[in-house]
Amino acid sequence: KPRKRFRFLRWTWRLTYLSVLAGIGYLSYQVYDLRHPSEQFDPDPNKKTLVILGTGWGSVSLLKKLDTENYNVVVVSPRNYFLFTPLLPSCTVGTIEHRSIMEPIRNILRHKKANVKYYEAEATKIDYEKRIVYARDDSEIKGDIMTTEIPFDMLVVGVGAENATFGIPGVREHSCFLKEVGDAQKIRKQIMDCVETASFKDQSDEEIKRLLHMVVVGGGPTGVEFAGELQDFFMEDLQKWVPSIKANFHVTLVEALPNVLPMFSKQLIDYTESSFKEEHIQIRTKTMVKNVTDKYIEAETQSPDGSKQIEKIPYGLLVWATGNALRPVVKDLMSQIPAQAKARRGLEVNEYLVVNGAENVWAVGDCAIANYAPTAQVAAQEGAFLARLFNTMAKTDAIEAEMRELSAKQATAKPDDRKAVLEEINERQRQLRRVKQIGAFSYSHQGSLAYIGAEKAVADVSWFSGNIASGGTMTYLFWKSAYLSMCFSTRNRILVIFDWAKAKAFGRDVSRE
Ligand code: FAD
Ligand code: NAI
Repeated sequence: KPRKRFRFLRWTWRLTYLSVLAGIGYLSYQVYDLRHPSEQFDPDPNKKTLVILGTGWGSVSLLKKLDTENYNVVVVSPRNYFLFTPLLPSCTVGTIEHRSIMEPIRNILRHKKANVKYYEAEATKIDYEKRIVYARDDSEIKGDIMTTEIPFDMLVVGVGAENATFGIPGVREHSCFLKEVGDAQKIRKQIMDCVETASFKDQSDEEIKRLLHMVVVGGGPTGVEFAGELQDFFMEDLQKWVPSIKANFHVTLVEALPNVLPMFSKQLIDYTESSFKEEHIQIRTKTMVKNVTDKYIEAETQSPDGSKQIEKIPYGLLVWATGNALRPVVKDLMSQIPAQAKARRGLEVNEYLVVNGAENVWAVGDCAIANYAPTAQVAAQEGAFLARLFNTMAKTDAIEAEMRELSAKQATAKPDDRKAVLEEINERQRQLRRVKQIGAFSYSHQGSLAYIGAEKAVADVSWFSGNIASGGTMTYLFWKSAYLSMCFSTRNRILVIFDWAKAKAFGRDVSRE
């Protein structure tokens, strides 16, 4: 018996050793592959020009799977990197450094088989009739040429959305948004600025209270995740290094509707609200912000008897997270297409993601309206679908060209050869039928996940035909592993793991950059 046990241990040890070796081998290969892209060739200039706008979830997911040798691909975006938005709230307090969730678009494009052109520019106008995209370089360093025209045969619009402000006065001037890396950096800086200014000599009690009041407007997942991260920062780090702020630092989440996280199940909404209460994050539901000044917001609140009043809420930091609005370039394109006259929230698309009323123009992600929520999950699946569609279209074109050649050959072939040519035509027809079998886009919802602070998360996950709702620490571990596995590259994954470990071991950095 002891011998058997010993043999078992020896095998376990060998297996572990082999798995570790295989893991190191795999990782080394990934790193080698990342650093050594193979030579690229230029696609045939006679092929169609496919212009892709944006480098977000939709466009990058398309680029990842697209066979670039079939088209002359041109990417236009003011952001020369892909941003893994689900971990952006963690960057606002330094749990994760922003560069860990950015993947340079050059890395992505350099690994494609055929060359892809990238222009760091904003598409200012799409002329649908002339089939031209007008682009402008808005970066700090300007060359002699700052604007250009890019003609297209096929166009994919994946420019996302901008922050909704509903025209509320003062929002753009006084609040921080949370959509881009620059927003997260601005918030991180302002949190520390509020803390240091509140600690300034002879600051009045009232001013200290205002400066340390962190207000988040919008109880959607962006607002909830940010509020949770901010309270974590305060509990785990800030109050240790600046104990004088302990009594006055408060986080308030303001939401116009009767509850936060409307897309989650009732059970998880209740769980989030009670968890926020335990964490001392105040939730102000049925409170609609109507005006913003540099020191306070004015919100319409509702009493239990239904009466409404305007309340002034002073703040030090204001983060505005009230959802999405149309980008001007999208609004302008909609105005050129009569079939889009009734569209309000974005470009209406059909089941193949073709912009309704347009030819050879597709839209993906937050700027497209296809009856799904504007999420990364939807955008990524739409991008992958378009890559399959375009790869198929290219194959179809190639087979059809071959068939035309074969038909011509058949007409002039000797009677003995005709049978063989006919056989080849039939084979191409069979191939064509197989290739054309691509169905319409159908979204597969994997579930919704959100971090709510204090190492807890909520998840509404689809499981076979049912749904599992869960919240707590185990869900937090699931949230962490799910987002880690979804990170764009091995490099991103390693950097995020290091950041988490660094924040656990040394705490978050409280210096103001
Ligand atoms: P984006 O990813 O926003 O990309 C748009 C691209 O277009 C950018 O590269 C931009 O620079 C570029 N662009 C903008 N204007 C122009 C122009 N004029 N010309 C050319 N290019 C232009 N969703 C989830 O499913 N799960 C999550 O956990 C999650 N967390 C989130 C957390 C935060 C803080 C935020 C803000 C969003 C989160 N989302 C999440 C939503 C998700 O990020 C979006 O739905 C997703 O980014 C949409 O993808 P997109 O490709 O349409 O747009
Ligand atoms: P959202 O649209 O989901 O929520 C915005 C909230 O702001 C709404 O609840 C609305 O009632 C409220 N609001 C609007 N105007 C207001 C006002 N004047 N005063 C007070 N409250 C007001 O927006 P969010 O959170 O920015 O998300 C945008 C998209 O990104 C959503 O589709 C969301 O699902 C997705 N997302 C998903 C995440 C996840 O799955 N973890 C994380 C972040 C975003």
